[in-house]
Amino acid sequence: MFKMWWEIKGHLEVKNNKLYIGGKSSEYLAKKFGTPLYVLNINRVKENYLRLYYSLQKYLKRQLVILYSVKANSSLALLRVLKNLGAGVDAVSPFEVFLAKLSGFDKEEILFTGTSVSNEDMILIGRKAKINIDSLSQLERYAKLAKRYGFDKKISIRVNPEKGAGFISDCITAGKEAKFGIPKKDIFFAFKRALELGLQPIGLHQHIGSGILAQDLNIFLKAAEAILNLAGKLKKKFNLEFEFIDLGGGLGIPYKSSQEVINLEKFGKNLGETIEKIASKANLGNFDLYLEPGRYIVGDAEVLLVKVVDVSKKYVNEIGVNAGFNILDRPARYKTYHEIVNASRVKGETKLYRISGNLCESGDVFNETKYKLRKLPFIKEGDILAILNAGAYGLTMSSNYNLRPRPREIMIDKNKVKIIRERETFNELIATQRR
Ligand code: LLP
Repeated sequence: MFKMWWEIKGHLEVKNNKLYIGGKSSEYLAKKFGTPLYVLNINRVKENYLRLYYSLQKYLKRQLVILYSVKANSSLALLRVLKNLGAGVDAVSPFEVFLAKLSGFDKEEILFTGTSVSNEDMILIGRKAKINIDSLSQLERYAKLAKRYGFDKKISIRVNPEKGAGFISDCITAGKEAKFGIPKKDIFFAFKRALELGLQPIGLHQHIGSGILAQDLNIFLKAAEAILNLAGKLKKKFNLEFEFIDLGGGLGIPYKSSQEVINLEKFGKNLGETIEKIASKANLGNFDLYLEPGRYIVGDAEVLLVKVVDVSKKYVNEIGVNAGFNILDRPARYKTYHEIVNASRVKGETKLYRISGNLCESGDVFNETKYKLRKLPFIKEGDILAILNAGAYGLTMSSNYNLRPRPREIMIDKNKVKIIRERETFNELIATQRR
Protein backbone atom coordinates (compact mmCIF):
# COMPACT_ATOMS: atom_id res chain seq x y z
CA MET A 1 0.00 0.00 0.00
CA PHE A 2 0.97 3.63 -0.54
CA LYS A 3 3.20 5.04 2.20
CA MET A 4 2.30 8.22 3.99
CA TRP A 5 5.09 10.82 3.76
CA TRP A 6 5.53 10.86 7.54
CA GLU A 7 5.90 7.11 8.07
CA ILE A 8 9.17 6.15 9.77
CA LYS A 9 9.94 2.50 10.26
CA GLY A 10 9.76 1.47 13.91
CA HIS A 11 8.47 4.91 14.91
CA LEU A 12 5.33 5.97 13.05
CA GLU A 13 3.68 3.11 11.21
CA VAL A 14 0.30 2.24 9.77
CA LYS A 15 -1.11 -1.22 10.50
CA ASN A 16 -4.67 -2.21 9.64
CA ASN A 17 -5.28 1.43 8.75
CA LYS A 18 -4.47 2.55 12.32
CA LEU A 19 -1.53 4.58 13.59
CA TYR A 20 1.17 2.88 15.66
CA ILE A 21 3.82 4.80 17.59
CA GLY A 22 6.98 2.89 18.48
CA GLY A 23 5.08 -0.33 17.90
CA LYS A 24 2.14 0.64 20.13
CA SER A 25 -1.38 1.27 18.93
CA SER A 26 -2.36 4.92 19.39
CA GLU A 27 -5.92 3.92 20.22
CA TYR A 28 -4.68 1.57 22.92
CA LEU A 29 -2.41 4.25 24.42
CA ALA A 30 -5.20 6.84 24.31
CA LYS A 31 -7.57 4.48 26.08
CA LYS A 32 -5.09 3.31 28.67
CA PHE A 33 -3.56 6.69 29.60
CA GLY A 34 -6.33 9.13 28.64
CA THR A 35 -6.28 12.07 26.26
CA PRO A 36 -4.93 14.57 25.51
CA LEU A 37 -1.68 12.64 25.73
CA TYR A 38 1.89 13.41 24.71
CA VAL A 39 3.62 10.23 23.51
CA LEU A 40 7.41 10.43 23.38
CA ASN A 41 9.25 7.66 21.56
CA ILE A 42 12.70 7.81 23.13
CA ASN A 43 14.06 5.33 20.60
CA ARG A 44 13.55 7.97 17.92
CA VAL A 45 15.30 10.61 20.07
CA LYS A 46 18.35 8.34 20.32
CA GLU A 47 18.38 7.77 16.56
CA ASN A 48 18.18 11.51 15.88
CA TYR A 49 20.94 12.30 18.34
CA LEU A 50 23.32 9.63 17.08
CA ARG A 51 22.66 10.39 13.40
CA LEU A 52 23.49 14.06 13.94
CA TYR A 53 26.49 13.33 16.12
CA TYR A 54 28.22 10.86 13.81
CA SER A 55 27.44 12.65 10.57
CA LEU A 56 29.54 15.59 11.75
CA GLN A 57 32.02 14.04 14.18
CA LYS A 58 33.50 11.83 11.49
CA TYR A 59 34.69 14.88 9.53
CA LEU A 60 36.19 16.64 12.55
CA LYS A 61 39.64 16.45 14.04
CA ARG A 62 38.27 17.73 17.31
CA GLN A 63 35.55 16.86 19.80
CA LEU A 64 31.98 17.61 18.82
CA VAL A 65 29.72 18.41 21.77
CA ILE A 66 25.98 18.46 21.33
CA LEU A 67 24.35 20.80 23.82
CA TYR A 68 20.71 19.80 23.79
CA SER A 69 18.48 22.87 23.91
CA VAL A 70 16.20 22.31 26.91
CA LYS A 71 13.66 24.90 25.83
CA ALA A 72 12.48 22.52 23.11
CA ASN A 73 11.40 19.84 25.58
CA SER A 74 12.23 19.82 29.27
CA SER A 75 11.11 16.38 30.37
CA LEU A 76 13.45 14.95 33.00
CA ALA A 77 13.25 11.45 31.54
CA LEU A 78 14.42 12.81 28.18
CA LEU A 79 17.27 14.81 29.72
CA ARG A 80 18.54 11.73 31.55
CA VAL A 81 18.67 9.75 28.32
CA LEU A 82 20.52 12.54 26.54
CA LYS A 83 22.99 12.77 29.41
CA ASN A 84 23.73 9.06 28.99
CA LEU A 85 24.30 9.60 25.29
CA GLY A 86 26.99 12.16 26.12
CA ALA A 87 25.12 15.40 25.46
CA GLY A 88 25.49 18.68 27.32
CA VAL A 89 22.79 21.29 27.78
CA ASP A 90 21.91 24.69 26.37
CA ALA A 91 19.87 26.47 29.05
CA VAL A 92 18.20 29.87 28.87
CA SER A 93 16.80 30.39 32.36
CA PRO A 94 17.87 29.62 35.91
CA PHE A 95 15.22 26.92 36.26
CA GLU A 96 16.39 25.22 33.07
CA VAL A 97 19.84 25.15 34.65
CA PHE A 98 18.40 23.68 37.87
CA LEU A 99 16.59 21.02 35.83
CA ALA A 100 19.79 20.12 34.01
CA LYS A 101 21.57 19.73 37.36
CA LEU A 102 18.73 17.57 38.62
CA SER A 103 19.11 15.37 35.56
CA GLY A 104 22.77 14.80 36.40
CA PHE A 105 24.60 17.36 34.24
CA ASP A 106 27.71 19.03 35.68
CA LYS A 107 28.47 22.72 35.53
CA GLU A 108 30.97 22.13 32.73
CA GLU A 109 28.24 20.50 30.62
CA ILE A 110 25.73 23.35 30.89
CA LEU A 111 25.99 26.58 28.95
CA PHE A 112 23.64 29.36 30.03
CA THR A 113 22.72 31.64 27.14
CA GLY A 114 20.20 34.17 28.36
CA THR A 115 18.81 37.37 26.97
CA SER A 116 17.67 40.36 29.05
CA VAL A 117 19.66 38.72 31.82
CA SER A 118 19.22 40.20 35.28
CA ASN A 119 21.78 40.15 38.07
CA GLU A 120 19.40 37.88 39.97
CA ASP A 121 19.53 35.36 37.09
CA MET A 122 23.32 35.46 37.05
CA ILE A 123 23.53 34.98 40.81
CA LEU A 124 21.26 31.94 40.56
CA ILE A 125 23.24 30.25 37.82
CA GLY A 126 26.71 31.54 38.80
CA ARG A 127 28.10 28.32 40.22
CA LYS A 128 25.91 25.95 38.29
CA ALA A 129 26.61 26.68 34.61
CA LYS A 130 29.09 28.18 32.22
CA ILE A 131 27.96 31.60 31.07
CA ASN A 132 27.52 32.97 27.57
CA ILE A 133 27.34 36.78 27.53
CA ASP A 134 24.59 38.39 25.45
CA SER A 135 25.33 42.12 25.79
CA LEU A 136 27.91 44.69 26.87
CA SER A 137 25.74 45.61 29.85
CA GLN A 138 25.67 41.99 30.97
CA LEU A 139 29.43 41.79 30.54
CA GLU A 140 30.04 44.70 32.92
CA ARG A 141 27.54 43.37 35.46
CA TYR A 142 28.88 39.81 35.29
CA ALA A 143 32.43 41.04 35.92
CA LYS A 144 31.29 42.75 39.12
CA LEU A 145 29.29 39.74 40.30
CA ALA A 146 32.15 37.40 39.46
CA LYS A 147 34.44 39.40 41.76
CA ARG A 148 31.89 39.63 44.52
CA TYR A 149 30.80 35.98 44.48
CA GLY A 150 33.92 34.33 43.15
CA PHE A 151 32.27 33.17 39.91
CA ASP A 152 34.25 31.75 37.05
CA LYS A 153 36.43 34.20 35.13
CA LYS A 154 36.02 32.08 32.06
CA ILE A 155 33.21 33.29 29.83
CA SER A 156 31.79 32.78 26.39
CA ILE A 157 30.54 35.66 24.26
CA ARG A 158 27.58 35.58 21.89
CA VAL A 159 28.04 37.40 18.63
CA ASN A 160 25.16 38.48 16.44
CA PRO A 161 26.38 37.76 12.93
CA GLU A 162 24.98 39.78 10.08
CA LYS A 163 22.57 37.28 8.60
CA GLY A 164 20.15 34.81 10.16
CA ALA A 165 17.70 32.18 8.98
CA GLY A 166 14.55 30.55 10.30
CA PHE A 167 11.06 29.36 9.47
CA ILE A 168 9.44 32.71 10.31
CA SER A 169 10.85 36.14 11.01
CA ASP A 170 10.33 35.82 14.79
CA CYS A 171 12.52 32.72 14.78
CA ILE A 172 15.44 34.43 13.01
CA THR A 173 17.89 35.38 15.73
CA ALA A 174 20.68 37.12 13.86
CA GLY A 175 20.89 40.30 11.83
CA LYS A 176 19.91 43.89 12.53
CA GLU A 177 16.34 43.05 13.54
CA ALA A 178 17.31 40.53 16.20
CA LYS A 179 17.73 41.42 19.87
CA PHE A 180 20.29 38.71 20.58
CA GLY A 181 24.03 38.81 21.09
CA ILE A 182 26.65 41.48 20.64
CA PRO A 183 26.60 43.05 17.17
CA LYS A 184 29.54 41.95 15.07
CA LYS A 185 30.81 45.51 14.83
CA ASP A 186 31.25 45.65 18.63
CA ILE A 187 32.77 42.24 19.14
CA PHE A 188 36.41 43.34 19.25
CA PHE A 189 35.48 45.94 21.84
CA ALA A 190 33.63 43.29 23.87
CA PHE A 191 36.70 41.04 23.99
CA LYS A 192 38.97 43.96 24.85
CA ARG A 193 36.62 45.01 27.62
CA ALA A 194 36.29 41.45 28.95
CA LEU A 195 40.07 41.24 29.28
CA GLU A 196 40.28 44.65 30.95
CA LEU A 197 37.67 43.48 33.45
CA GLY A 198 39.85 40.52 34.36
CA LEU A 199 37.68 37.95 32.58
CA GLN A 200 38.95 35.19 30.36
CA PRO A 201 36.95 34.73 27.15
CA ILE A 202 37.26 31.09 26.11
CA GLY A 203 34.10 30.63 24.03
CA LEU A 204 32.52 32.28 21.03
CA HIS A 205 28.85 31.61 20.28
CA GLN A 206 26.17 32.34 17.74
CA HIS A 207 22.68 31.06 17.01
CA ILE A 208 21.25 32.33 13.76
CA GLY A 209 17.71 31.02 14.03
CA SER A 210 15.36 28.10 14.26
CA GLY A 211 13.68 25.77 11.79
CA ILE A 212 16.36 25.97 9.10
CA LEU A 213 15.70 23.61 6.20
CA ALA A 214 17.60 22.51 3.10
CA GLN A 215 17.18 25.74 1.14
CA ASP A 216 18.72 27.80 3.96
CA LEU A 217 21.47 25.45 5.09
CA ASN A 218 23.88 27.49 3.06
CA ILE A 219 23.24 30.46 5.35
CA PHE A 220 24.15 28.23 8.31
CA LEU A 221 27.34 27.10 6.56
CA LYS A 222 28.33 30.65 5.66
CA ALA A 223 27.67 31.75 9.25
CA ALA A 224 29.85 28.89 10.50
CA GLU A 225 32.63 30.01 8.18
CA ALA A 226 32.23 33.59 9.40
CA ILE A 227 32.39 32.77 13.12
CA LEU A 228 35.52 30.68 12.62
CA ASN A 229 37.20 33.46 10.70
CA LEU A 230 36.16 35.87 13.42
CA ALA A 231 37.55 33.55 16.10
CA GLY A 232 40.83 33.44 14.17
CA LYS A 233 41.08 37.23 14.16
CA LEU A 234 40.16 37.51 17.84
CA LYS A 235 42.71 34.90 18.76
CA LYS A 236 45.42 36.72 16.86
CA LYS A 237 44.55 40.15 18.18
CA PHE A 238 44.16 39.20 21.85
CA ASN A 239 46.32 36.11 21.96
CA LEU A 240 43.45 33.89 23.16
CA GLU A 241 42.93 30.15 23.34
CA PHE A 242 39.36 29.21 22.50
CA GLU A 243 38.09 26.19 24.41
CA PHE A 244 34.95 26.07 22.30
CA ILE A 245 33.17 27.62 19.37
CA ASP A 246 29.42 27.21 19.42
CA LEU A 247 27.40 27.31 16.20
CA GLY A 248 24.03 27.26 17.98
CA GLY A 249 21.02 25.21 16.97
CA GLY A 250 18.43 25.64 14.29
CA LEU A 251 18.40 22.50 12.16
CA GLY A 252 14.83 21.99 11.01
CA ILE A 253 12.58 19.02 10.46
CA PRO A 254 9.87 18.63 7.81
CA TYR A 255 6.40 19.43 9.14
CA LYS A 256 4.70 18.88 5.79
CA SER A 257 5.19 16.69 2.76
CA SER A 258 6.63 19.47 0.60
CA GLN A 259 9.53 20.02 3.02
CA GLU A 260 12.66 17.92 2.70
CA VAL A 261 14.56 16.07 5.37
CA ILE A 262 18.04 17.58 5.78
CA ASN A 263 20.67 15.51 3.98
CA LEU A 264 22.89 15.12 7.01
CA GLU A 265 25.57 13.16 5.24
CA LYS A 266 26.18 16.06 2.87
CA PHE A 267 25.70 18.70 5.54
CA GLY A 268 28.11 16.99 7.96
CA LYS A 269 30.76 16.70 5.28
CA ASN A 270 30.41 20.33 4.14
CA LEU A 271 30.37 21.72 7.65
CA GLY A 272 33.12 19.46 9.01
CA GLU A 273 35.50 20.13 6.13
CA THR A 274 34.85 23.88 6.22
CA ILE A 275 35.57 24.02 9.93
CA GLU A 276 38.79 22.04 9.72
CA LYS A 277 40.03 24.09 6.78
CA ILE A 278 39.54 27.43 8.53
CA ALA A 279 40.67 26.13 11.92
CA SER A 280 43.98 25.06 10.51
CA LYS A 281 44.47 28.18 8.39
CA ALA A 282 43.65 30.48 11.30
CA ASN A 283 45.70 28.37 13.67
CA LEU A 284 42.74 28.02 16.02
CA GLY A 285 44.13 25.13 18.03
CA ASN A 286 42.20 22.37 19.63
CA PHE A 287 38.83 23.93 20.52
CA ASP A 288 35.69 21.80 20.90
CA LEU A 289 32.91 22.37 18.41
CA TYR A 290 29.47 22.89 19.99
CA LEU A 291 26.07 22.56 18.37
CA GLU A 292 22.81 23.38 20.19
CA PRO A 293 19.99 21.49 18.50
CA GLY A 294 16.58 21.24 20.10
CA ARG A 295 14.00 20.60 17.42
CA TYR A 296 16.16 18.19 15.43
CA ILE A 297 16.57 15.89 18.44
CA VAL A 298 12.99 15.74 19.75
CA GLY A 299 10.69 17.34 17.19
CA ASP A 300 9.56 14.24 15.33
CA ALA A 301 9.91 11.90 18.32
CA GLU A 302 6.71 12.97 20.07
CA VAL A 303 3.07 12.88 19.03
CA LEU A 304 0.08 14.54 20.66
CA LEU A 305 -3.01 12.32 20.81
CA VAL A 306 -6.37 14.03 21.16
CA LYS A 307 -9.91 12.69 21.09
CA VAL A 308 -12.72 13.81 18.82
CA VAL A 309 -15.54 14.86 21.14
CA ASP A 310 -17.82 16.87 18.85
CA VAL A 311 -18.59 16.44 15.15
CA SER A 312 -20.90 19.11 13.80
CA LYS A 313 -21.77 20.53 10.45
CA LYS A 314 -21.67 24.26 11.19
CA TYR A 315 -20.53 26.67 8.46
CA VAL A 316 -17.77 24.13 7.85
CA ASN A 317 -17.21 20.57 9.04
CA GLU A 318 -16.21 21.40 12.58
CA ILE A 319 -14.33 18.75 14.52
CA GLY A 320 -14.08 19.52 18.22
CA VAL A 321 -11.19 17.86 20.06
CA ASN A 322 -10.38 17.71 23.79
CA ALA A 323 -7.29 19.95 23.65
CA GLY A 324 -6.50 23.50 22.60
CA PHE A 325 -3.60 25.84 21.99
CA ASN A 326 -2.82 25.66 25.69
CA ILE A 327 -1.60 22.12 24.97
CA LEU A 328 0.11 22.75 21.61
CA ASP A 329 0.59 26.40 20.78
CA ARG A 330 2.56 26.30 17.54
CA PRO A 331 -0.29 26.31 14.99
CA ALA A 332 -2.16 29.16 16.71
CA ARG A 333 0.94 31.22 17.53
CA TYR A 334 2.92 30.84 14.31
CA LYS A 335 0.18 29.82 11.83
CA THR A 336 2.39 26.87 11.14
CA TYR A 337 1.51 23.45 9.76
CA HIS A 338 1.35 20.31 11.91
CA GLU A 339 0.36 17.08 10.24
CA ILE A 340 -2.89 15.71 11.66
CA VAL A 341 -3.51 12.00 11.26
CA ASN A 342 -6.73 10.21 12.05
CA ALA A 343 -5.11 7.48 14.12
CA SER A 344 -8.35 5.49 14.07
CA ARG A 345 -8.69 5.58 10.25
CA VAL A 346 -5.46 6.68 8.58
CA LYS A 347 -6.73 6.32 5.01
CA GLY A 348 -10.19 6.52 3.57
CA GLU A 349 -12.60 8.76 1.76
CA THR A 350 -11.66 12.33 2.59
CA LYS A 351 -13.58 15.45 3.54
CA LEU A 352 -12.53 19.00 4.37
CA TYR A 353 -12.38 19.65 8.08
CA ARG A 354 -11.53 22.23 10.65
CA ILE A 355 -9.94 20.67 13.73
CA SER A 356 -10.95 22.94 16.56
CA GLY A 357 -9.72 23.11 20.12
CA ASN A 358 -11.68 23.46 23.35
CA LEU A 359 -10.58 26.99 24.26
CA CYS A 360 -12.86 29.97 23.93
CA GLU A 361 -10.98 31.71 21.13
CA SER A 362 -11.67 31.69 17.41
CA GLY A 363 -8.00 31.16 16.64
CA ASP A 364 -7.93 27.96 18.67
CA VAL A 365 -7.64 25.52 15.77
CA PHE A 366 -5.01 22.95 14.85
CA ASN A 367 -5.21 23.78 11.15
CA GLU A 368 -2.70 26.42 10.03
CA THR A 369 -5.46 28.99 10.34
CA LYS A 370 -9.20 28.82 10.81
CA TYR A 371 -9.60 29.51 7.07
CA LYS A 372 -7.47 26.62 5.85
CA LEU A 373 -9.54 23.47 6.02
CA ARG A 374 -7.71 20.15 6.12
CA LYS A 375 -8.48 17.17 3.92
CA LEU A 376 -8.72 14.14 6.20
CA PRO A 377 -10.32 10.70 6.07
CA PHE A 378 -13.83 10.58 7.48
CA ILE A 379 -13.90 11.55 11.17
CA LYS A 380 -16.41 10.50 13.78
CA GLU A 381 -16.91 11.07 17.49
CA GLY A 382 -14.52 9.02 19.59
CA ASP A 383 -11.80 8.88 16.91
CA ILE A 384 -8.27 9.53 18.07
CA LEU A 385 -6.37 12.18 16.13
CA ALA A 386 -2.58 12.34 16.22
CA ILE A 387 -0.87 15.68 15.83
CA LEU A 388 2.62 14.89 14.63
CA ASN A 389 5.98 16.55 15.29
CA ALA A 390 4.85 17.83 18.67
CA GLY A 391 8.08 16.99 20.50
CA ALA A 392 9.78 20.35 20.22
CA TYR A 393 8.15 23.48 21.67
CA GLY A 394 4.99 21.53 22.47
CA LEU A 395 4.72 20.92 26.21
CA THR A 396 7.33 23.58 26.95
CA MET A 397 5.09 26.26 25.45
CA SER A 398 1.89 24.94 27.01
CA SER A 399 -0.16 26.91 29.52
CA ASN A 400 -3.17 26.72 31.81
CA TYR A 401 -5.29 29.10 29.77
CA ASN A 402 -9.02 28.60 30.42
CA LEU A 403 -7.86 26.81 33.56
CA ARG A 404 -7.14 23.66 31.58
CA PRO A 405 -4.53 21.30 33.02
CA ARG A 406 -1.45 20.27 31.11
CA PRO A 407 -1.74 16.69 29.94
CA ARG A 408 0.00 13.47 30.76
CA GLU A 409 3.18 12.50 28.97
CA ILE A 410 4.26 8.93 28.41
CA MET A 411 7.51 7.54 27.09
CA ILE A 412 7.99 4.50 24.90
CA ASP A 413 11.38 2.94 25.59
CA LYS A 414 12.02 -0.11 23.42
CA ASN A 415 8.87 -2.09 24.21
CA LYS A 416 8.00 -0.52 27.52
CA VAL A 417 5.62 2.34 28.13
CA LYS A 418 5.82 4.51 31.23
CA ILE A 419 4.24 7.68 32.49
CA ILE A 420 6.90 10.40 32.73
CA ARG A 421 4.65 13.33 33.60
CA GLU A 422 1.25 13.36 35.24
CA ARG A 423 -1.76 15.34 34.15
CA GLU A 424 -2.13 18.43 36.33
CA THR A 425 -4.88 18.55 38.91
CA PHE A 426 -7.22 21.35 39.90
CA ASN A 427 -5.38 21.78 43.20
CA GLU A 428 -2.03 22.10 41.45
CA LEU A 429 -3.41 24.74 39.13
CA ILE A 430 -4.53 26.95 41.99
CA ALA A 431 -1.76 26.04 44.43
CA THR A 432 0.07 29.36 44.20
CA GLN A 433 -3.01 31.46 44.86
CA ARG A 434 -3.82 32.67 48.35
CA ARG A 435 -7.27 31.66 49.46
N1 LLP B 1 20.33 27.84 20.95
C1 LLP B 1 19.75 29.03 21.22
C2 LLP B 1 20.56 30.12 21.78
C3 LLP B 1 18.37 29.20 20.95
O1 LLP B 1 17.81 30.39 21.18
C4 LLP B 1 17.62 28.13 20.43
C5 LLP B 1 16.19 28.28 20.15
C6 LLP B 1 18.27 26.90 20.18
C7 LLP B 1 19.63 26.81 20.46
C8 LLP B 1 17.57 25.68 19.66
O2 LLP B 1 17.00 25.89 18.42
P1 LLP B 1 16.42 24.65 17.55
O3 LLP B 1 17.57 23.73 17.25
O4 LLP B 1 15.40 23.97 18.39
O5 LLP B 1 15.85 25.29 16.36
N2 LLP B 1 9.18 28.31 19.70
C9 LLP B 1 9.70 28.17 18.36
C10 LLP B 1 11.18 27.96 18.34
C11 LLP B 1 11.97 29.00 19.12
C12 LLP B 1 13.43 28.70 19.20
C13 LLP B 1 14.10 29.56 20.23
N3 LLP B 1 15.52 29.35 20.34
C14 LLP B 1 8.95 27.04 17.65
O6 LLP B 1 7.97 26.53 18.21
O7 LLP B 1 9.26 26.69 16.53
